[in-house]
Amino acid sequence: MECYSGIASRRSVRRLGGSVQEAQARMIVEAGLRAPSAHNLQPWQFLVITEREKREALANALMKEHISWLGNQDAAKRLYESVAGTPLIIVGCVDLSVVDGNDSLEMLFASQSLAAAAENMLLAAHCLGLAGFWRGVPAARPDIFRNALKIPESALPQVMLQIGVPLGKPREKRLREGTVHWNSW
Ligand SMILES: Cc1cc2nc3c(=O)[nH]c(=O)nc-3n(C[C@H](O)[C@H](O)[C@H](O)COP(=O)(O)O)c2cc1C
Repeated sequence: MECYSGIASRRSVRRLGGSVQEAQARMIVEAGLRAPSAHNLQPWQFLVITEREKREALANALMKEHISWLGNQDAAKRLYESVAGTPLIIVGCVDLSVVDGNDSLEMLFASQSLAAAAENMLLAAHCLGLAGFWRGVPAARPDIFRNALKIPESALPQVMLQIGVPLGKPREKRLREGTVHWNSW
């Protein structure tokens, strides 16, 4: 897919299934690793989850948390099925072994760099004919990811991507108006 049309047509797709080939997963991950980062520090660590058992462990932990927080059993079950049923999950973490977690500007740069990597991965998935979406829950509850996936203290989970074969077709995106100022505000 041509670069600009790939960027312009990417959308979040939440109904995912099928399978992702290992070569595709590797291309998606590498696209993330090629993102810009502050000081070119590449301040990230990624846990790439392809095994069903690991996805189920994460799905279970998220479902339990959802029930204890919101008490909505149906929504929690949908969350479980979404996570367990997605062929490729990527958890993006800030690497605290190269970023000072007490320096708020460095942490902001690291999060921005990680976001650039995450978007590169979503774009790569789209360009390979796959689809996916971003979940923000690790930024709010990194402990759930740490415990369920045995992520070390030196990595701070911030981003979760779910990637697979799209089972639905997204609508064209409507852009919010008034967000761009040419030459003067
Ligand atoms: C930081 C961030 C957090 C997000 N968290 C979630 C989430 O928790 N659940 C979800 O379904 N989508 C999440 N999204 C996806 C957005 O809802 C989606 O990108 C937005 O609605 C625009 O749609 P589009 O991606 O199709 O352009 C998140 C996106 C970003 C950038």
